[in-house]
Amino acid sequence: MSNVIVAIDGPAGAGKGTIARHLATYYRLKLLETGLLYRLLGHKANEEKAPLDNVPALMQIATTLDFKDLDNPILRHESVGNLASQIGVFPEIRQFLTGAMRRFCQDIVPPYQGAILDGRDIGTVVCPDAHLKLFITADAKVRSQRRNLEMTANGFDEQTNLAKINERDQRDQNRATAPLIMADDAHLIDTTNLSIEQACEIASKLLEQTLPRT
Ligand code: DC
Repeated sequence: MSNVIVAIDGPAGAGKGTIARHLATYYRLKLLETGLLYRLLGHKANEEKAPLDNVPALMQIATTLDFKDLDNPILRHESVGNLASQIGVFPEIRQFLTGAMRRFCQDIVPPYQGAILDGRDIGTVVCPDAHLKLFITADAKVRSQRRNLEMTANGFDEQTNLAKINERDQRDQNRATAPLIMADDAHLIDTTNLSIEQACEIASKLLEQTLPRT
C-alpha cells in the first residue's frame, strides 16, 4: 500500500486531536490538525479587522497563510475556534483550504509512512478515499468540561461552556457545504466513558488492521 491516509472527524472536545497525535507519533504519520488552518485564517482576519463575512477579503488573507504559523498557541483559544467555525461556512474558503490539505497529503517522505488529518469533513470531502476513517464523539457536557481543562492546562485564562460548544457544533453540523457528518465507512468511537488510553487503544487497533503487513 502506498502512503496510508487516516481521516479523523468529530465535534469539538471529543478527543480527536489527542487520538490523532497518538497515532501520528506511534505510526509515523504526518499530522495536520485542519482546524488550525481555519483558526489561523480567523485569527488573521480578526487582527486585520476584516469582517468575518467579507469573503473576498478572507480569500485574500487565505492566500498569505503560512503552515509555519500553525503552532502559534493563540490559535488554541476557544474564541479563535469560534471565529474558525464562522468562516468555515463559506464554500470558497473551504475549497481553498481543502486544496492545501490535499497537497499536504501528497507530500509524504520517509520517515513518514502516511498522513493523518483531523477536522470536520476529512472523511467525507477532503480525503474520501482515506484508508481509515474515524468519527470521534462524546457527550456535549463532557466535551465542554474537557475543553475547559485543556484551556487551563495550556495556561489560557478562558473558559467555554455548554452553550458555546453547542452553538459551534450546530453551526458546523448545519452549514450547507461540507457539514460535520460521519462518513458511511467511518468507525464510530464514543469517548464519553473512555480514558484517553482506552480511546487511543481502540483507534490503534483499527489502524493496525489497516496498515500493510511488512
Ligand atoms: O478542530 P478545531 O476545533 O480546531 O476546529 C475549529 C473550527 O474550524 C471548527 O469549529 C469548524 C472549522 N473546521 C472546519 O470547518 N472544517 C475542518 N476540516 C476543520 C475545522
